[in-house]
Amino acid sequence: MNFKPDLDKYPVFNIVSELSESHQQTFVVGGYVRDLILKRPSKDVDFVTVGSGIELATKVADKIKASNVQVFKNFGTAMIKSKGFEYEFVGARKESYNRDSRKPIVEDGTLEDDQNRRDFTINAMAISLNADNFGDLIDPFDGVKDLKRKVIRTPLDPDITFSDDPLRMMRAVRFASQLNFDIEPVTFEGIIKNAERIKIVSKERISDELNKIILSKKPSYGFKLLFHCGLLKLIFPEMVDLHGVETIDGKSHKDNFFHTLQVLDNVAENSNDLWLRWAAILHDIAKPPTKRFDPKIGWTFHGHEDKGARMVPNIFRELKLPLNEKMHYVKKLVRLHLRPIALVRDNITDTAIRRLLFEAGDDVEDLMALCRADITSKNDDKVKRYLSNFKKVEKKMREVEEKDQVRNFQPPVSGEEIMATFNLSPSRIIGEIKEEIKEAILEGKIPNDRTQALDYMHKVAQQKGVSQNIKK
Ligand code: CTP
Repeated sequence: MNFKPDLDKYPVFNIVSELSESHQQTFVVGGYVRDLILKRPSKDVDFVTVGSGIELATKVADKIKASNVQVFKNFGTAMIKSKGFEYEFVGARKESYNRDSRKPIVEDGTLEDDQNRRDFTINAMAISLNADNFGDLIDPFDGVKDLKRKVIRTPLDPDITFSDDPLRMMRAVRFASQLNFDIEPVTFEGIIKNAERIKIVSKERISDELNKIILSKKPSYGFKLLFHCGLLKLIFPEMVDLHGVETIDGKSHKDNFFHTLQVLDNVAENSNDLWLRWAAILHDIAKPPTKRFDPKIGWTFHGHEDKGARMVPNIFRELKLPLNEKMHYVKKLVRLHLRPIALVRDNITDTAIRRLLFEAGDDVEDLMALCRADITSKNDDKVKRYLSNFKKVEKKMREVEEKDQVRNFQPPVSGEEIMATFNLSPSRIIGEIKEEIKEAILEGKIPNDRTQALDYMHKVAQQKGVSQNIKK
């Protein structure tokens, strides 16, 4: 196979070729080659050169007038950013590409050594940039065949490849999930055998891969692979606790692990948002610790939404996910995930709608998407019934929102105003008056309107005996 026509489309490949010409062999390698064959456009190009990657990068940067060259001496790599592309240069090495390693990298390998130490056959292909065979594919492990067969396989014995860098076990699952590939049995066995070694990898790197799995088209596939090879239990045990069905007196509950995966896939069909997908993963996370069997009503999971929301920060901390507004968003969705369905069941009152709009704020559409995805019953009639009631709730939401605008509710009377009107210094009573005004609006006693809120404020204040403090 020759890729000269593809390479000629971008001047950089010929430039690198010319600059390597006199003294060192250079190749395009890794993900770019894989993606070129898969026809997936990629903007990250890795070059491997038999010699110093840093020297070559410096020359290339000069030639293409790129001002931004980053040199990572410890890794023996240099990166150039230019016109939306990222070019990484590395000297061919005998050792593996373990980015966590503190060992200095020795650039003393041949192309063959370099390809041997890469993670998967589909990532170990190279394209020559040398004048005598410019564009030729060098594919020692049949990577092209594995791309065709849709298989993830290590070039060497998996024990060697995975002990070089145990993160590669996560990467195997990630590529399988992103590309919808199988993991070849010997490689999969290798993951099962080496799974425990994931413990030496930093949590950040693990979560980066996990997030890529979550963002793939059908994330349940990646999770099932993680589950079956034993990695999930090690990196995210709370999720594995969802697995299993218990039966008492002939009554069983559903398997919450597979239910969660179904909800995740449902959400993924309609949204690429990582955090909405995380909310789907965590919506039932507290079912195991809240599970009870009541002989009269069967299995219950009372309060799993509140307990689940309380578990979110710890899970995020443990997985080194951000503890910022994204975490609060996930927590909120977990806490509220039963509310819309409760509205569907009960008579839909304006008050209940107002309260939900108030609590969900701008995330109400995402909450509804999560709830819709949560309807995974096998009974088609039941699903249809729920979905049509859902539509009613959404219609009602739009009406109430138009009328009352409580979604991003801001109290129409501020604490300062209450203090000024009644000549009060900061104290608990101000909060109480504010709260009563808010409650009156949510309950529909008064409209969400400033004049009416001010009237109501006077009424409340009088009841509380503070009106006599009014300034003369
Ligand atoms: N690589 C490896 N072992 C790792 C990480 C990377 O062997 N643990 C090698 C692979 O040859 C890989 C290349 O380094 O193709 C580049 O790695 P990276 O940029 O992380 O991944 P890509 O394969 O380019 O894929 P993506 O861009 O989807 O992450």
